[in-house]
Amino acid sequence: MVEIRTEKLLLRKALHDDLGAFHAILSDARAMAFWYRPPHEDLAVTQAWLADMIEIAPNIGEDFAVEFEGKLIGKAGLRKFPTIGLIFHPDVWGRGLASESLRPIIDRAFTEHGLPMIEADVDPRNESSLRLLSRLGFVETRRERRTSLAGDEWCDSVFLRAHSPHTKGH
Ligand SMILES: CC(C)(COP(=O)(O)OP(=O)(O)OC[C@H]1O[C@@H](n2cnc3c(N)ncnc32)[C@H](O)[C@@H]1OP(=O)(O)O)[C@@H](O)C(=O)NCCC(=O)NCCS
Repeated sequence: MVEIRTEKLLLRKALHDDLGAFHAILSDARAMAFWYRPPHEDLAVTQAWLADMIEIAPNIGEDFAVEFEGKLIGKAGLRKFPTIGLIFHPDVWGRGLASESLRPIIDRAFTEHGLPMIEADVDPRNESSLRLLSRLGFVETRRERRTSLAGDEWCDSVFLRAHSPHTKGH
């Protein structure tokens, strides 16, 4: 898997050693407020999630661990083409780091992987994610109710798309 350096970030392959840092994010109620499942209570849940991420085959997806100042701060990528997803530790929100990580990922999805479009599935209450995706050129295509059950709470979805600048007709 390639490594990508942006101005402030390193995007790299996820490692089993990232378990503690990922668990700190995935067990945080703020980070998980609009995720498709409740905060991870057990390290074993994060361990299984991380193992899935490490094992993604290159023809299925490309999901990056994101480091800032030598520390793991989140993940961003396409766990399964063509759907994009990201989660960052709340300590680093509001600094443009999530946007900085997504720009090269989106570019690679269109150029290296040749995807005609990328899709995002966002909880309609997740305003910061909707703002971020809209800034990066994503446009809402449809809404659906009760798409995921996070614990005992049904969540709705806004689906957004960004189209490849290399595909004719868009
Ligand atoms: C979604 C998520 C990654 C967005 O993080 P974020 O830090 O708000 O996103 P950005 O990196 O784009 O930062 C944008 C904010 O930083 C501010 N900012 C500060 N310096 C900036 C800079 N140099 N460049 C860009 N934005 C900057 C922007 O004004 C913006 O603030 P605003 O949201 O109040 O308008 C984060 O909220 C998160 O991890 N949430 C939990 C998981 C989740 O919901 N994921 C989405 C599922 S689809």
